[in-house]
Amino acid sequence: MGFIRVLPIESTAMPESSSDLDLSHPSPRPGAGSKGWRYAPAAFVKALLLAFVVCAVQAAEGPGHAAIASAHPLATRAGFEVLDQGGNAFDAAVAVSAALAVVEPQGSGLGGGGFWLLRRAEDGKTVILDGRETAPLTAGPDMYRDARPGASLDGPLAAGIPGLPAALVHLAEHFGRLPLEKSLAPAIRHAETGFAVGERYAVAVKPRVAALQGSPAASAIFLDHYAAPRAGFLLVQKDLAETLRRIAREGRAGFYGGSTAQRLVQGVRAGGGIWQGADLERYSVMERFPLRGRYRGISISSAAPPSSGGTVLLEALNILSGYDLARLDGAARKHLVIEAERRAYRDRDLYLGDPAFVRMPLGRLLSPAYAAGLRSSIRLDRALPSAALGAVAPSRQGDNTTHFSIVDKDGNLVAATLSVNNAFGSGFVPAGTGVLLNDEMDDFATAPGQPNSYGLVGGAANAIAPGKRMLSSMTPTFLETPERVAVLGTPGGSRIISMVLLAVLDFAEGHGPESWVSVGRFHHQYLPDAVEYEPDGLSREDIRGLEKLGHTLQKVPYRYGDMQAVQWDKRGNRLSAASDPRGEGWAEVK
Ligand code: DON
Repeated sequence: MGFIRVLPIESTAMPESSSDLDLSHPSPRPGAGSKGWRYAPAAFVKALLLAFVVCAVQAAEGPGHAAIASAHPLATRAGFEVLDQGGNAFDAAVAVSAALAVVEPQGSGLGGGGFWLLRRAEDGKTVILDGRETAPLTAGPDMYRDARPGASLDGPLAAGIPGLPAALVHLAEHFGRLPLEKSLAPAIRHAETGFAVGERYAVAVKPRVAALQGSPAASAIFLDHYAAPRAGFLLVQKDLAETLRRIAREGRAGFYGGSTAQRLVQGVRAGGGIWQGADLERYSVMERFPLRGRYRGISISSAAPPSSGGTVLLEALNILSGYDLARLDGAARKHLVIEAERRAYRDRDLYLGDPAFVRMPLGRLLSPAYAAGLRSSIRLDRALPSAALGAVAPSRQGDNTTHFSIVDKDGNLVAATLSVNNAFGSGFVPAGTGVLLNDEMDDFATAPGQPNSYGLVGGAANAIAPGKRMLSSMTPTFLETPERVAVLGTPGGSRIISMVLLAVLDFAEGHGPESWVSVGRFHHQYLPDAVEYEPDGLSREDIRGLEKLGHTLQKVPYRYGDMQAVQWDKRGNRLSAASDPRGEGWAEVK
């Protein structure tokens, strides 16, 4: 397949005041064509218009109460604590992000990064706040070639320059109402006094004990006498509380300058890493246009590069919009979802990377004509082997990384997916900081054709370069119809995108958040050429049907993902929220 340089967007970075870039295209909705409108009785049209006006008024007014779903009860409570003090959804997002950094250190933290999809109710401004890590300035494409095995996963050489602290400061300064002292207070309290870790921590820490043991500061904090702690272990993080206080007092300089920066750089270099002061000084968050599309009357806003999430999600939905999935039986339907994923994930591997470094044919990838072309290669009666699509490797992944969703009383929205990559990131804490560093460098294509820890194979577009952001799969997403707004996302490595895709299809069928977070999961990512599925992700009939079509199926021995979702139903102005039953999260409406 040739690479056509059609480029509607050079970079998706946006100046603060610019309006949204809309890559959407109308997708036909069966039964809702122009004919139906032409013959609709006038009274019906009036009623419909009235309903739209009511919805618009309610939208402007907001739901009047708030909902938060996050992966940890203490983080959800931290968000409400800040709302109760007069904060808005963005202050709550600071509080939840910081609390998760303390109470779910296996998933995200100050030493990591993430993407915050934001909608400000007062002016409708919708942006992706990109707090993705960057490669150090002395990093290069071959830096892992002669390094010890696992250097992109464990230890300070695996760590990109963190973006989460800068994102918290940006959120507070540009979107919030409260000072950081208030929004960081719950996190500081939990770090200072400690909290009892849950089963999820106890499970996640086991395979990371060796990595954590390599860092004296990390083992002193996260292990129990150098061994894996059990559920109930009191995790106290005094140094982290101090670092959080410095951020609360000094803002950005509290992390990227002064004594914190000094300790971070010193610790990293002493452990064999390559950070310098300039890496931290030069780090900056970006506000970007979200990618936008439509699927069966649903407006979708999601993550733009350097996350592949929105692109792969919208490309798969564009392919699926040519079929009436509701009329197909389970296996036929899942076959089409799998074939759409196969093609969209292949384009991820081929084209996507950091927009500051690579030119990406996003306009083409997200065009209806391109989707139609891909659709024409899909056969209804059999699976097409990935190799037949042209060449551009297996996967292990847990549920590290984290997601939370917030709707506040005014209708401000936040969907945020945050990560340190694998459980407990690189396992490395620079002494005196309490900051557990990410191992996000592994999200780059660390060597040609070499799959990363999610089995993803990247190409030149995602090669390492100084200051470059590594390609992500994080997919914080808003779904909107005139009646309903959904705010959702999940951790899960490369499976994040297919989980969000299944949730969008479930939303399209009219289901609510309890259903989106619970739906059985299956996944195809082009390579390896196999459909992975949860123990209860496919029925027996589905399995038989898909095997008959020629798919290779692989049961994953655990249930995956930890989706956190909120729905604002404007018809009754009702909020509902749900936390994935697979996790230990907490969703609440107040
Ligand atoms: O940015 C990414 O795509 C990955 N670092 C996310 C990692 C993740 O979700 C881990 N969970 N299994």
